[in-house]
Amino acid sequence: MKAELYADRHFPIGDIDKRIYGSFIEHLGRAVYNGIYEPDHPTADDMGFRGDVMELVKKLGIPVVRYPGGNFVSGYNWEDGIGPRENRPRRLEPAWNSIEPNTIGIGEFQLWARRAGCEPMLAVNLGTRGAAEAKDLIEYCNFPRGTKLSDLRRSHGYEEPFGIKYWCLGNEMDGSWQMGHKTAEEYGRLAAETAKLLRMVDPSVEITVCGSSSSGMATFGQWEETVLGHTYDLVDYISLHSYYGNRDNDTAQYLACSKDMDSFISTVASICDVVKARLHSDKTMMLSFDEWNVWFHSNEQDKKVEKWSVAPPLLEDIYTFEDALVLGCLLITLLRHADRVKMACLAQLVNVIAPIMTENGGRCWAQTIYYPMLHACSYASGKTLRSSVSCEEYDAGRYGTVPYLESVVTVDEEKRQITVLAVNRSLDEDMDLTIELSGYGKPVKTEHIALRCPDLKAVNSADRPDAVLPEIVPPAEKTVLSKHSWNVIRFGY
Ligand code: AHR
Repeated sequence: MKAELYADRHFPIGDIDKRIYGSFIEHLGRAVYNGIYEPDHPTADDMGFRGDVMELVKKLGIPVVRYPGGNFVSGYNWEDGIGPRENRPRRLEPAWNSIEPNTIGIGEFQLWARRAGCEPMLAVNLGTRGAAEAKDLIEYCNFPRGTKLSDLRRSHGYEEPFGIKYWCLGNEMDGSWQMGHKTAEEYGRLAAETAKLLRMVDPSVEITVCGSSSSGMATFGQWEETVLGHTYDLVDYISLHSYYGNRDNDTAQYLACSKDMDSFISTVASICDVVKARLHSDKTMMLSFDEWNVWFHSNEQDKKVEKWSVAPPLLEDIYTFEDALVLGCLLITLLRHADRVKMACLAQLVNVIAPIMTENGGRCWAQTIYYPMLHACSYASGKTLRSSVSCEEYDAGRYGTVPYLESVVTVDEEKRQITVLAVNRSLDEDMDLTIELSGYGKPVKTEHIALRCPDLKAVNSADRPDAVLPEIVPPAEKTVLSKHSWNVIRFGY
């Protein structure tokens, strides 16, 4: 099969904000306990953080990490996780039917994030709590000294403020499963007052308000309009969440699910612009896709997990090679919306629907989905160029007709590098790809990395961490994308 990809220097889409390569750690399953934190592990540092996990996180180059939830945050008392550990309560945690020991709280987490090279993004509880508790939390975290809560932080050994810049106003407040679920009116008012208070304490913060928890919600659209009606001038981003899965075991259809993400983003951006026009505002609302991933493998096994234990093995999806291809398509989609999507969080980072897995007390390895994330984060910087694709299409069932080629062109003018990320969705045929990059003289292909595997269901594991690994494609004049493959094609100019 032949395909052509054109891009022109004079037609950029927008600057790529590195924060679209963010991730997420929730107090859920083994993400925190036996994930990032395991004091008895042979690689643990002085704080009990696992060194092997830290190494894989650093290699990914994640710029921001959302914390502490997720559904968890809607019942969380942040005060439970501060001060001497012997005084911290064990709490019933109804979001995930677990017990929360509170060994890790905001102080420890922000330290972990800094050590891992990431900025923390903190969600406040707007489910069972409200604006006052959020104000107390930001005073504890960000106020320098001389008040009850800033001095309390200092007494806990943190002399310097945490300087947490990114704040989320609750989590999925449109969902009936959420503790303290609200209507759009109820949430919109609460979110506005909370944003106001957060900014009064620290005017330098950037705030995300909750959009819909998926585009499939009955209230989708109406929710965004109402919530933004209350908060437009007070927040910087509206959130989007979406998870995908090969539930019909139809790989051709599954590989097209990025079309759904694409239309979700366009629709939310349009709704934001409607509110902007209605309010006669000069400000353009940006989007934070702060939960996205593949999530379906663990659904059945999670039903069997024993309730009310500490760090049960929940949401432990083991990702296949085809999931990595889907992840690549989703990353390409986020990049193609670089003008509006300024933050995004791959949900999540360790053990819970995650690119990194651990054994309690044992080994740690990168799942298949780790690699597209690593490549995008390492190479797709600068700005995204508008591109046009000429290639055969196929019928992808519920997603309609899609081209076999999913791709994006990015250019980093400082580094004088162009990166093409591309997935060949064909399950049968290699693709002979012609790339025309206009306005850059004669760009020279410097590298072609590919993730390919004959077995779409192949997985990495502790025993076989290298079953699916990227490889350097031997230099060739032609660019050939193997059937069902993820590709990074790099040029210098
Ligand atoms: O990431 C897992 C869960 O998915 C989060 O807790 C919640 O926000 C979403 O429904």
